[in-house]
Amino acid sequence: DPITTPDISTCVASTKGFEPKGAVRTNACCPPTLSKTVKDFVFPNDRATRIRPAAHRASPEYIAKYKAAIQKMRDLEDDDPHSFVSQAKIHCAYCNGGFTQYKHQDKELQIHNSWLFFPFHRWYLYFYERILGKLIDDPTFAIPYWNWDNPAGMSLPDFFEEGGKENPAFDAYRNSSHLAPAIANLDYDGTEKNYTCIKQLSVNLGAMNKQMIRNAGDWKSFFGGEYRAGSDPIGNKDKSVGSVEAGCHTAIHRWVGNSRLPNGEDMGNFYSAGYDPVFYVHHANVDRMWKLWKDLGIRGHIEPPDNDWLNASYVFYDENKELVRVYNKDCVRLEKLKYDYQFAPIPWKNSRP
Ligand code: C2O
Repeated sequence: DPITTPDISTCVASTKGFEPKGAVRTNACCPPTLSKTVKDFVFPNDRATRIRPAAHRASPEYIAKYKAAIQKMRDLEDDDPHSFVSQAKIHCAYCNGGFTQYKHQDKELQIHNSWLFFPFHRWYLYFYERILGKLIDDPTFAIPYWNWDNPAGMSLPDFFEEGGKENPAFDAYRNSSHLAPAIANLDYDGTEKNYTCIKQLSVNLGAMNKQMIRNAGDWKSFFGGEYRAGSDPIGNKDKSVGSVEAGCHTAIHRWVGNSRLPNGEDMGNFYSAGYDPVFYVHHANVDRMWKLWKDLGIRGHIEPPDNDWLNASYVFYDENKELVRVYNKDCVRLEKLKYDYQFAPIPWKNSRP
């Protein structure tokens, strides 16, 4: 059977996957219980498609709008489902033992390390983006993506740091030696390689080629392995973690987080990652990788053809503060979700590692 999640009334404080001693964020990650009824998802009827821009090329006007939206989110009371803190806690609840599986209360829910990774995060960003748009009254608002697979976009976009604490996109828990103009290491494993610029670019493009093409020839190697109702979460070291999830995705998390803190906060741990605005901009590019992988048009590049993948579901508060149940099968086509990605070159297409 498919994983069905969650029954939010069964949520408990998160205790898994992080060291509580010295933690800089709370483990009380349950969603507000504003609403008891869970509605079925309906596709948006927006007239315009939201186009997510590449962060490093975004205009000053757009950046100002993006920051204004984040500021509005930060200004809400914590227990508002649209607040910055509520949005951050979603990740902690779904990834650190806050939720159990519906009808399998003894089984922890973990949406990483399996085929739930891509669809869960697609839905998470979908609602986050619509909430931001609603807060600034712009139904065309789209979040930016961090274009780390392209040499022109490989360092942390400037707008996350400029202005310091006054900047709503700033976060105090980042690795200060990895800020721009440092080039992100898409192969980062926690050790500093100090490659030359040229070498780092070729390492990065090689990693992308491997994770998107060479080692990603079928759905299992790209999305990750099966995870069905009643089974235990798949361990981190398991071979069936998808190529992008295990590779550039995790590398960027660890690279951005502050490695001197006990849990690598914020980006370096599931429980805290959502507190850094970089998280959503990073994940927009991860989500873009799903689209690009399909668009490569290579045989075998298809979503898992399995009912337990198609019918797996999650619950989110939507932009109207209503609880909505969403299914993997409804997030496969971006045109139905009314968003897309601004074009950027894909220089890793022919870079053999
Ligand atoms: Cu839910 Cu990037 O992790």
